[in-house]
Amino acid sequence: MKFFIDTANLDQIREAQDLGVLDGVTTNPSLMAKEGISGEENIINHYKNICEIVDGDVSAEVIATGYEGMIKEGEILAALHPQIVVKVPIIKDGIKAIKYFSEKGIRTNCTLVFSIGQALLAAKAGATYVSPFIGRLDDISTDGVELIAQIAEMYSYYGFETEVLAASIRHTMHIVQCMEAGADVATCPLDAILGLLNHPLTDIGLEKFLADYKKVNG
Ligand code: E4P
Repeated sequence: MKFFIDTANLDQIREAQDLGVLDGVTTNPSLMAKEGISGEENIINHYKNICEIVDGDVSAEVIATGYEGMIKEGEILAALHPQIVVKVPIIKDGIKAIKYFSEKGIRTNCTLVFSIGQALLAAKAGATYVSPFIGRLDDISTDGVELIAQIAEMYSYYGFETEVLAASIRHTMHIVQCMEAGADVATCPLDAILGLLNHPLTDIGLEKFLADYKKVNG
């Protein structure tokens, strides 16, 4: 399973990249706003900076909601760097735009997916990634991880090449559950990735190894 980091914070992206296990980055307009990135030029420069830090795919979201606007924005974003994946919402014009991008060889991440039917449309349009938002489903008492499992099974049954990118991950257990459900990618906050390291027996074991070494080596 690939790991993407879900942030526009350059320090966090660097820290995740330094771990050596990072496969990419996802951003969205809210994450860019959180970092205070505004204005077309700054946004574009920020995407370029992210691409310089990481080796993998970097999702950059279109703001337009109409077909022509999405195409125009998506082509500008895709031309910024070969690592850019154009993020498009699952709306009617979004599906048309994904189909257009797919025919042009521009990779896409279909976002704001909350149902298996939406995931079917995204795959049929040729999306590179589909992003089901599991945390936001959990927030309304609906099992987000179950949706990941359903989409993964459906894509495998029909042989779709679209990768299931589990998004809106809130904590470490979500990552483990998405892995078990067959997600191809999990995009996570840095804390959730680092949380995978934690085990009390590791801490106790390491402490004992170091104490035993010290006993005989001083
Ligand atoms: C990533 O692609 C999504 O935009 C992001 O994971 C949404 O997460 P949130 O539900 O925590 O805002």
